[in-house]
Amino acid sequence: MDKGQLLYEGKAKRLFETDQSDVLIVEYKNDLTAFNGEKKAQEQGKGALNNQISSILFERLNREGISNHWLEQLNQTEQLVQHNEIIPIEVVVRNIAAGSLAKRIGLKEGRELAFPIVEYYYKDDDLGDPLINEDHIKLLNLVNQSDLNQMKEMALKVNDALIELFEACEIKLVDFKLEFGYDRSGQIILSDEVSPDTCRLWDIHTNEKLDKDVFRQGLGSVEHAYKIILNRLKGALSHG
Ligand code: TMP
Repeated sequence: MDKGQLLYEGKAKRLFETDQSDVLIVEYKNDLTAFNGEKKAQEQGKGALNNQISSILFERLNREGISNHWLEQLNQTEQLVQHNEIIPIEVVVRNIAAGSLAKRIGLKEGRELAFPIVEYYYKDDDLGDPLINEDHIKLLNLVNQSDLNQMKEMALKVNDALIELFEACEIKLVDFKLEFGYDRSGQIILSDEVSPDTCRLWDIHTNEKLDKDVFRQGLGSVEHAYKIILNRLKGALSHG
């Protein structure tokens, strides 16, 4: 598979063409950003850890029947994915109050939610990715209602699958962000990444933060935290 032209560079990944029009290479970078790019750093090994973790999670979701863009892990920092047109909505699912939810509606961090909360954010850096509702999505014509329903249903299925997997790793899945896209046949597939950059993951016993909040809040080594996630996932997979 030849690595072709750079198609797009985001904050944490680069996307390259290949010699097959439907297949792209995603390269995971060591860059870390938070607060819409205001806080920046680089952490050696972060790209490789997220590439491996994301590959494990996408493969698992595939086996659970959740269609996604991941095809195979190529090497330490790169994976092959299926081409898709990103829908500009970030879908967040929450099981435990933290981050912007805790702040917005005054819930104590760590409070378990009675049911999973699904939120939508408009993927627009200039606007700072604002929280939006179904009427806003309709008004902006971001996606039709039936596709939005499908995205929500898929996001809740991802939640069920990941809760189970992370429980086996003695990790609480606090919340996470997903992105979806249309493949060439117009089907909605899960896209982007699923990694400690895009999830909140806490140790089940100590509530130690093992995700990008380590960087956002300056709590220590990102590499150390992400390595714990990868090692526990590998352990859980070898036992089940
Ligand atoms: P929030 O509590 O800051 O709204 O974040 C909710 C979840 O979404 C959390 O798991 C982190 C993830 N997230 C991203 O993946 N990208 C982002 O830009 C933001 C703000 C959050």
